[in-house]
Amino acid sequence: MIDIVPTGQVLGATIEGLDLSKPLSEADFEQVLRALGTHGVLRFPGQSLDPAAHKAFAGRFGSLEVNVAGSFQVEEHPEVMILSNMVEDGKPLGIADAGQDWHTDMSYSETISLANVLHALRIPRDEQGEPLGNTQFANMQAAYEDLPEALKQRLAGATAEHDFNKFWEMMRREKGSTRPPLSEAQRRRKPPVHHPVFLRHPITGRQVLYANPGYTVRIDGLPEAESDEILDFLFRHQLQNRYVYTHRWTEGDVLMWDNIGCLHNAIADYRPDQHRYMQRCQVMADWIFEHPLAGAA
Ligand code: SIN
Repeated sequence: MIDIVPTGQVLGATIEGLDLSKPLSEADFEQVLRALGTHGVLRFPGQSLDPAAHKAFAGRFGSLEVNVAGSFQVEEHPEVMILSNMVEDGKPLGIADAGQDWHTDMSYSETISLANVLHALRIPRDEQGEPLGNTQFANMQAAYEDLPEALKQRLAGATAEHDFNKFWEMMRREKGSTRPPLSEAQRRRKPPVHHPVFLRHPITGRQVLYANPGYTVRIDGLPEAESDEILDFLFRHQLQNRYVYTHRWTEGDVLMWDNIGCLHNAIADYRPDQHRYMQRCQVMADWIFEHPLAGAA
């Protein structure tokens, strides 16, 4: 029996009663999928997934992405990436600064992402034992609903450009990241793409505001100044506290979040000697828009 316990906040539920290292039954799979649309951020506590098991669970929900940056991928399982600030024998074990500002995974990709599945193996803590390196999420189904009617009408049918390089360069310019600039070959593999500003969520059928400060660069067809003004409004609107939920990590958590209906931000509030180690898989939305559950949650 699986038990879904909502946080009572704007996002989030804990799912008890599943061992994710074992294959999901069809019934459990459907419950998890519906819960993903309804609650946006699902916590599966007390899990222990090696890269193969992690990949098998995440892969049930769609094809898995192999990150364009091509680094810190687990040998034999390139779909599994390590996010970590740990260093062993002078070598970093993972990407140390992934996701450290508001963004939506894979909005820069032609096929967008359905979900991110992140497994916490080591969590930094402060001197009182409180977890650091929390992850924040913002609910884009709620943010869409509250938009002014005139703006909903104005942007209905509009598309926007998303560019992988926007976040990458922001990290180098504003956050002191040591990541090298993307090579020409990497940029060619991830050219800018265009997506509707409003999407129908494939699980809930609700409208979603699909724009994010990390990757969205331009509303198509508008003069630059007008596009900048609207994007600035949308970015401020979508990050109001009332849409934001913060997940406090515990070792063993598997967190699965909806990348269509949520933005997220990894808070970088820990020191190099406070160690964080996460395993990540990105699930593509490659069949969800055609699934019989689409729009039925
Ligand atoms: C991510 O954006 O994929 C990483 C989030 C996190 O590490 O908390």
